[in-house]
Amino acid sequence: MDYQNIFLEIPKELEQIADKGNVASYIPELSNINPDKFGIHLTTIDNRNYSLGDSDEKFSIQSISKVLSLCLAFKLEKDELWSRVGVEPSGSPFNSLVQLEYEKGIPRNPFINAGALVICDVLVSRLSHPKRDFLEFLRRISGIENISYSPRVAASEKSTGYRNLALISLMKEFGNIENNIETVLDLYFNLCSIEMSCKELSKTFLFLADYGVHPLTKERVVSVSKSKRINAIMQLCGFYDEAGEFSFKVGLPGKSGVGGGIVAIHPGQYSIAVWSPKLNEKGNSYKGMKILEFLTTRTRSSIF
Ligand code: DON
Repeated sequence: MDYQNIFLEIPKELEQIADKGNVASYIPELSNINPDKFGIHLTTIDNRNYSLGDSDEKFSIQSISKVLSLCLAFKLEKDELWSRVGVEPSGSPFNSLVQLEYEKGIPRNPFINAGALVICDVLVSRLSHPKRDFLEFLRRISGIENISYSPRVAASEKSTGYRNLALISLMKEFGNIENNIETVLDLYFNLCSIEMSCKELSKTFLFLADYGVHPLTKERVVSVSKSKRINAIMQLCGFYDEAGEFSFKVGLPGKSGVGGGIVAIHPGQYSIAVWSPKLNEKGNSYKGMKILEFLTTRTRSSIF
């Protein structure tokens, strides 16, 4: 596939996309970003790389980190995990509280905030130094040393993170959080604050395009079965109450973050990351979704 030539069509495509959406401002630090940034990077499983725009610039990956924390928790906890968090789409916004009460503190899936908080609780229980150990895991599976938390973004989110505090408090009351809620929230805010570029994200996620083995580092990150399941959860839950729309238009498993990033996987072929900070009303990158829709149609490379 001649991705390079197709990538050259993206600027023309971008010109035709309305300048809609808003940068996330409920986390004050995120509102400082230049809204016109745009980057994209595709890596094939045989390590061919295609990029455009601000693809080397690091940004706040936010909820994209939920896929990586799920990978580690699933490895450590195995199928026990699924008694504490479901695998069904929520049909609700990522930070919604309503479902959680009538479903007795069991989040619908690991990608809504409530589910990701349960995953962080598992990591706090299982790891001796959760923040350090997670970063070590991430650096190892990506083969990239230069990945860190942003203390500024984590502190900024902590200062306004009342919904996450409400979600974790409710789950604690239902008995679905084992550890001190401050400790779990601290890990959660730090995971959301991780900064990576499109190029780094696309390379890091390659193991989910190659059935659990990272084709560049050769490390088996997760089993074939776990890789299949994690992609399935991305397909169904990666975009919250817009998961159907992303499947419908892009047709790949993927995950978004309120920093404006999206990662998507084509099993057996490639992983791709795109970044454009303005979000639509569901909290997903407005232009990111449009460009991925253009690419999977133009290259005929959706899973459908
Ligand atoms: O907890 C939050 O609200 C943010 N740190 C992450 C939310 C997020 O990225 C949702 N994704 N689209």
